Amino acid sequence: MVFSRCYCYEISVFRRYPVKTLDFEVVGSQYPAPPRDWTIWFTGLSGSGKSTLAQALAGRLQRYGLPHELLDGDVIREGICRGLGFSKADRDENIRRIGCIARLLNRHNVISIVAAISPYQKTRAEVRKIIPKFLEVHVDCPLETLVHRDVKGLYHRALAGQIEHFSGISDPYEAPSHPDVYVNSGKQTAEESLKVIVRKIEELGWLSTPVIEEKVAVAAL
Ligand SMILES: Nc1ncnc2c1ncn2[C@@H]1O[C@H](COP(=O)(O)OP(=O)(O)OP(=O)(O)O)[C@@H](O)[C@H]1O
Ligand SMILES: [Mg+2]
Repeated sequence: MVFSRCYCYEISVFRRYPVKTLDFEVVGSQYPAPPRDWTIWFTGLSGSGKSTLAQALAGRLQRYGLPHELLDGDVIREGICRGLGFSKADRDENIRRIGCIARLLNRHNVISIVAAISPYQKTRAEVRKIIPKFLEVHVDCPLETLVHRDVKGLYHRALAGQIEHFSGISDPYEAPSHPDVYVNSGKQTAEESLKVIVRKIEELGWLSTPVIEEKVAVAAL
C-alpha cells in the first residue's frame, strides 16, 4: 500500500525526470508502511454513536484496502460472550475477551475497531496494557439527548426501573478522564466526529492518504 503511495509521491516530485521501474522499488523501500497492528476503542453510553462511528471508520478503511475487523459489543455478546450478563464481573469479562481478540488480530496485522460501552476505567486501562497501539475514543453525549434518541427503546425502560445494570441509569459509567480522542455526538455530526478521529489516526502515522486520492492529486498537478 505505502509502496504505491511513495511511488505516487515520487512521481509528483520527480516526474520531470526519467525514472526506471527499478527506482520506484528502491524509493518505496525507504518508507515504512503505516502500521496495521493498532486498535481503536470506542467507549460511551448506549446510543452515543459508537457503532455508527465504528462502522463509518470501517467503511473508510475498507475503501483504503486496509485489513480490519469491527468488534461490536452487541455482536460479540451474541457470539464469543454469549452467556455473559451485565454484572460488573461479566462486563469486565466481556471487555477482557474483546481486548484479547483485538490484540490477536493486531498481531496478525489486522486493525481492530472496538465499539463497546466498556464502562469501567480500570478494565479499559487493563486492555490498554495488553495492546501496544491503543487509541481510546470517548463518544460522549448528554443523557437528555440519549433519552430523546432512545434508539433501542432501552432508556425509557431503564428509567422506569425495568432494566437493572443499565449504564448511566442504574449502573455506573466511568467516563475516560484523558481519552486519546473526544467526540460529542450531541454537538457534532457523525461526519464531523469521524474527521476528528481520522485526523488523530493520521497524526499518529497509522493511516496514510489513500493511493486513489494521491493518484488523482498527482494527475491534477
Ligand atoms: N453525531 C452523531 N454521531 C453518531 N451517531 C449519531 C449522531 N447523531 C445521531 N446519531 C444517531 O445516534 C444513534 C447511535 O446509535 P449507535 O447504535 O451507534 O450507538 P451505540 O453507542 O453503538 O449504542 P450501543 O452501546 O447501545 O450499541 C444512531 O441512530 C445514529 O444515527
Ligand atoms: Mg453499538
